[in-house]
Amino acid sequence: MRRKIVAGNWKMHGSLQANAELLGALAAAPRAACEVVVCAPFPYLAQAQQRLAGSAVAWGAQDCSAHELGAYTGEVSVAMLGEFGCSHVIVGHSERRAYHGEADAVVAAKALRVLDAGMRPIVCVGETLQQRERDETEVVVGQQLDAVAHLLGARMSAVVLAYEPVWAIGTGRTATPAQAQQVHAFIRARLQHHGVEAETVPLLYGGSVKPDNAAELFAQPDIDGGLIGGASLKAADFLAIVSAA
Ligand code: PGA
Repeated sequence: MRRKIVAGNWKMHGSLQANAELLGALAAAPRAACEVVVCAPFPYLAQAQQRLAGSAVAWGAQDCSAHELGAYTGEVSVAMLGEFGCSHVIVGHSERRAYHGEADAVVAAKALRVLDAGMRPIVCVGETLQQRERDETEVVVGQQLDAVAHLLGARMSAVVLAYEPVWAIGTGRTATPAQAQQVHAFIRARLQHHGVEAETVPLLYGGSVKPDNAAELFAQPDIDGGLIGGASLKAADFLAIVSAA
């Protein structure tokens, strides 16, 4: 059985004061049956570490450099993230792909860096609305997945994948459980095709997951939890989603 994972993606939100409240509530909550992770902005990782150390909640980052170290102004290496106790790093989020031009090869290189540093990448894949309407979902998601699978080989079994249809992110427009399940089943089959032990790889769904739709999504056979944006910023909402898992 795969253990479910609920990961919060704060994106560029938070302040020392707001985080203290949110992290305090998460640390004080009863231990969940699923794995819980919060991915905070870089400057707040020390705060997350301080507040969450010793709790059942893990923390991570939202991106990392594809390079090991060197003259890369503004970038953050996986070794630095490791020093702040990160266990997970999101790579290839659609906002990074869209606004920072991250191509599949860069996403794959980042995933490898994360693994090499002993952390777990949460690799995001997903199609735009236009691609879905053109019936290109499987082509697009398949390509995004293949790039990572080719570089990682057998180590692909150590990643967490997140299917996040771009049209569902921050829009309030969730994929129906059936739509999400269909793509998740496709992803699992594709992993199998790559020789990966697909049954053990957690596949998260992301895109407007809220307390009132989480249970139905997480009940799908190939949905192993969620990557939560907006609803991860409110302790009550995030904890309700954690309970649903
Ligand atoms: P959302 O974001 O839950 O606000 O739609 C999800 C994500 O982008 O990871």
